[in-house]
Amino acid sequence: MSEEMNFDGRVAVITGAGAGLGRSHALAFAGRGAKVVVNDLGGNSSGAGSDQSVAQNLVDEIKASGGEAVANTDSVEDGDKIIACAMDTYGRIDVLINNAGILRDTTFHKMSDDDWNLVQRVHLGGTYSVTRAAWPHMRDAGYGRVIMTTSAAGIYGNFGQANYASAKLGIHGLAQALALEGVNKNILVNTIAPVAASRLTEQVMPPAMLEVLNPSVVSPLAVLLAHEGHTETGNLYEVGGGWVSRIRLEQSQGARFDPKAGFSAEQLAANWGAVNAFENAMHPSDVSNTLKVISEIVGVDLGLAAQS
Ligand code: NAI
Repeated sequence: MSEEMNFDGRVAVITGAGAGLGRSHALAFAGRGAKVVVNDLGGNSSGAGSDQSVAQNLVDEIKASGGEAVANTDSVEDGDKIIACAMDTYGRIDVLINNAGILRDTTFHKMSDDDWNLVQRVHLGGTYSVTRAAWPHMRDAGYGRVIMTTSAAGIYGNFGQANYASAKLGIHGLAQALALEGVNKNILVNTIAPVAASRLTEQVMPPAMLEVLNPSVVSPLAVLLAHEGHTETGNLYEVGGGWVSRIRLEQSQGARFDPKAGFSAEQLAANWGAVNAFENAMHPSDVSNTLKVISEIVGVDLGLAAQS
């Protein structure tokens, strides 16, 4: 049995924490001793309106069970206000879970600029805004645990979600860059792609699935990734319904040509099988792998081996 993961003395900011996954995360962190900033604008699922009681209700619930929490009702687009609330109330920020989100599903040819812009602004813009405001505090403290929330829709694409999929994969790209920039200050950044029953999924999932997709079986991953004992960064996980899995990239060995002599589209077509063959695939984890492979092809010694 592993040691209990405690968050005594830690401050966790959780965006969109009034409902669904964020609410579950907030209860989990508060139950483990963290002081929680419960951020939630309280709008509807497509981003309209606001309701201050959504965040406050959860804060009341946490306090009633002996935990510590403060409500914040700013939009994630105003990340500096959310982080100011954490600093003014608790004087530090150890954990940030970027979770707030909305949907404006429609096929691309019917998508309005508003559908596109609002989803980008809340998901990618909001994740940027809150993380940007938290970052200097984490750097100064030499400590931070950031969790990004992406989606299978972003990783794989999903019909009718061009706005959401692009913003969600953008969040993962942001996480990958920040994982590299944060690591020497002990700021770790990991990304989760959850699946859970919530108002965002209740229309698209059958009841039998919704029954087992409790947000509470996503939160243990958030707890583990945010704990001080965790040391991995830049990883991507799918989680939900009792399943936790890590995703990595796979790259074929590909077709190789003499770059000085060049090659035609027909020669490429003749080697198309090699481009698409995943036997002996590589699993690159940083941008250097491509250059390493090319250096091998042309015989330039970079002193680095391609990643297996
Ligand atoms: P939810 O709708 O139950 O909760 C999202 C919360 O974010 C709401 O309480 C809402 O008021 C809040 N929020 C929305 N816009 C906000 C803003 N601008 N500022 C502050 N708060 C705001 O949704 P759910 O399912 O819990 O989603 C949480 C996150 O997980 C989202 O980022 C979503 O895209 C992501 N996700 C969820 C999946 C699922 O199966 N439920 C699948 C993949 C990703």
